[in-house]
Amino acid sequence: MLPLFVQKTHNRLRRRLWGSPLSAMPAPLQPTAKRDRMVAAEIASHEKSAGAAHGAGSLPLRTLIRIENLLNGSSVVSAETGCGKSTILLSRIATRHKVFCLDDRDRNDASSVAYFMNCPATRLETIETVFGPTQLTLPSYERHAPYDLVLIDGPHGFPFPELEYYYFYPHVKAGGLLVVDDVNIPTIGRLADFISEDRMFETVEFIGATAVFRRTDAPVFDPVGDGWWLQDYNRRRADFAREIFLRDGKRRAPINFEGRY
Ligand SMILES: C[S@@+](CC[C@H](N)C(=O)[O-])C[C@H]1O[C@@H](n2cnc3c(N)ncnc32)[C@H](O)[C@@H]1O
Repeated sequence: MLPLFVQKTHNRLRRRLWGSPLSAMPAPLQPTAKRDRMVAAEIASHEKSAGAAHGAGSLPLRTLIRIENLLNGSSVVSAETGCGKSTILLSRIATRHKVFCLDDRDRNDASSVAYFMNCPATRLETIETVFGPTQLTLPSYERHAPYDLVLIDGPHGFPFPELEYYYFYPHVKAGGLLVVDDVNIPTIGRLADFISEDRMFETVEFIGATAVFRRTDAPVFDPVGDGWWLQDYNRRRADFAREIFLRDGKRRAPINFEGRY
């Protein structure tokens, strides 16, 4: 294993690379979406006028194109939590795209909804928006389709991405992608660790802080049963002599993020 500072520098460089604009590469080497050759250039042009991200931050365009390249099949049904630049791309490459997000249009220029709705590249007719906190909308939503792609990038606090995972995992098709953003946030990283060890998913790759998993053909884990002892994440770690699995024993003081988020 590499020393920690080498790993950290490597990760930082990777994140910077994935965050750099597509135009930083010579045109023949710029990545393009397989299903829509024009969309990357159109989103890049929106980034120039509206900014590379809205107030809540966006997935880098390079990451979005990479995810599209990893998708199988020509007809794509997709869903995401949160919205923004990802919504623009998915509206173009999916036949149907469901968006579960807050309606933040009162935030004007910082609005994620306005970011995709005002973009000329967005195909609004493909999109079904379900406005409201996913904590409330997902439990009552009944029209899930089998998905080729699910992107989890809505609320990031614990346990909200886990809650979203719960409502989506039974609906991801075998061969479909499950994408979890911001796995550098510790609790989301733990979710990604769990998924990467679960039989229902195989890890495809990490694109910066975005984890991409592919659904295997393992049976759906019963969403209304139990069975923690069947899950490899638990099977690898179960140790009944320990009461709690805290790694650092609360030795480090929590970092103060006041004013940054
Ligand atoms: C990081 S941004 C998503 C970025 C987007 N994927 C992109 O590529 O531009 C997080 C999004 O989640 C939304 N959000 C935050 N809390 C939410 C909640 N409780 N329910 C639904 N959406 C939420 C924010 O309004 C924002 O649109």
